[in-house]
Amino acid sequence: MIELMLFFCFILSSLFIFFNSNSNTKSSPKSYPLIGNYLSISANRHRFIQWTSDAVHNSSTLTVVLRLPFGSNHVITGNPTVVQHILKTNFSTYQKGPISHTILFDFFGQGIFNVDGDAWKMQRQFYNHVFSAKSLRHFLHVVETELNERLIPILTVAAANNTVIDLQDVLQRFAFDNICQIAFEYDPTCLIPSMPHASLAVAFEDAIRITIERFRTITPWKIKKFLNIGSEKRLKEAVSEIRDLATKIVNQRKQELETVGSDKSVDLLSGIISAGDTDDRFLMDIVISFIFAGRDTTSAALTWFFWLIYKNPRVESEIMCEINRKPNSDTLVYDEVKEMVYTHASICETMRLYPSVPIDGKTAMADDVLPDGTVVKKGMMVSYHPYAMGRSEKLWGGDWSEFRPERWLEKDEGTETVRFTVRDAYTYPVFQAGPRICSGKDMAFLQMKRVVMGILRRFVVVPVVDGGGGEPVFVADLTSKMKGGFPVKIKERKK
Ligand code: HEM
Ligand SMILES: *[C@@H]1O[C@H](CO)[C@@H](O)[C@H](O)[C@H]1NC(C)=O
Ligand SMILES: *[C@@H]1O[C@H](CO)[C@@H](O)[C@H](O)[C@H]1NC(C)=O
Ligand SMILES: *[C@@H]1O[C@H](CO)[C@@H](O)[C@H](O)[C@H]1NC(C)=O
Repeated sequence: MIELMLFFCFILSSLFIFFNSNSNTKSSPKSYPLIGNYLSISANRHRFIQWTSDAVHNSSTLTVVLRLPFGSNHVITGNPTVVQHILKTNFSTYQKGPISHTILFDFFGQGIFNVDGDAWKMQRQFYNHVFSAKSLRHFLHVVETELNERLIPILTVAAANNTVIDLQDVLQRFAFDNICQIAFEYDPTCLIPSMPHASLAVAFEDAIRITIERFRTITPWKIKKFLNIGSEKRLKEAVSEIRDLATKIVNQRKQELETVGSDKSVDLLSGIISAGDTDDRFLMDIVISFIFAGRDTTSAALTWFFWLIYKNPRVESEIMCEINRKPNSDTLVYDEVKEMVYTHASICETMRLYPSVPIDGKTAMADDVLPDGTVVKKGMMVSYHPYAMGRSEKLWGGDWSEFRPERWLEKDEGTETVRFTVRDAYTYPVFQAGPRICSGKDMAFLQMKRVVMGILRRFVVVPVVDGGGGEPVFVADLTSKMKGGFPVKIKERKK
């Protein structure tokens, strides 16, 4: 403990050796000589997303440079031209990079979220294959089965008993079961009426939180890891629990493939195993990245969606009109789900205000100058900020704070048909953009739209807001969540 404190003293005194302060925008975060923005960053650690969002809005170019101790800077941008530059035009210069790789390695290993270059290209090809239109049809079937056999029955009981349920938790369990089945044909059965204390889900949550904390703290995590204390100790436990499950899945699939062959399998893992890659550690990394990609993102978006439509009943009734035009059947064809444009627009609008991944960063692999003149040095972190962008008056106009799906829709003159208008991906980089755009995007929309339809056709979701003004509190480690969950009551919808 004493050594650790001495180390902190050393760090603190080192801070004063570095001089780094030159803010050129009037109301950019307060920067002091020697320690840069460290004080503001530290004071706003628990609302990092909102604070950096304000800073981006305050900047005339929508780009800010956080001055970190030790002379390293962090560029954060909400400027579409800059976003296009880092995600596409100069793709090869902006990578995950070695520092990020080290921080993420204990959890993600060599999974797709943590590699660049050829290792990325190779995995990306597998993912593209997994998300072909043919597989999407199969996925829709998996979503429907879980919806009808698990989610709807649970909501039916909640409605009958008038109980309060945590919808955020329910949707996370749904997504977790779903993603495991789609990826590996493995069913972890998290969403069952007993709501088992899902220690695996907790392990995932802890692992992600602690991993992300490594980015935002100047606490020497490497020392904590070496001493195996505190959060780093927990991280080690959580990761080993997750890897145990991953091993189980991998072994099960390998055995099945040996006995029945791979011709009928459409899941990601079988594809990779039959392509000849059987390094266990690598297969586990793939499993973890995939679960990570699918577990939190869609459930986060749906959680905020149900809150926003509660606050905007007009939108809910528009969605109901669209749903009621579809055949009332437990199974829907792929095209019917694809065609739900108003629901699609409402989900896009939800993620404009609450993007599942609110901020996402790259590392500059060489010196560069951004299109808005910001100077970038090799090794700097450069992040784009979808949360700030979705809330920018400059990008979305004076009514940016209104939940208005219509901004995504266009009426065809004459026919009165409503069409979805695709927005510039660099103005709305909620799924990232460019070569590394989310490969699960279509799958995600299919799942979210089908779940929305399944729930709203039968039920009304009524948030339990205690007293007055009980607005959910936004928290984000890696994904946008509601602090303490989303308590709701479920009512049967009157026909
Ligand atoms: C609302 C839902 C979703 C959102 C908002 C979302 C967003 C994102 C974002 C921002 C990234 C870039 C992350 C990075 O910098 O590496 C990403 C990458 C990725 N996503 Fe999604 N995602 C969603 C759902 C899904 C689902 C359901 C899957 C798969 C089951 C998935 C699979 C992936 C994969 C494989 C990548 C890595 C792509 C690459 O690096 O080439 N995503 N997603
Ligand atoms: C943004 O500008 C406002 C008004 O000038 C100021 O009060 C606030 O501290 C600034 N926020 C950040 C994070 O720079
Ligand atoms: C909920 O209702 C069902 C029947 O609708 C009943 O069997 C069950 O015991 C109730 N559960 C709770 C927690 O009240
Ligand atoms: C891309 O980045 C490199 C540094 O790696 C820089 O020299 C070059 O000018 C940039 N290219 C463009 C098109 O901005």
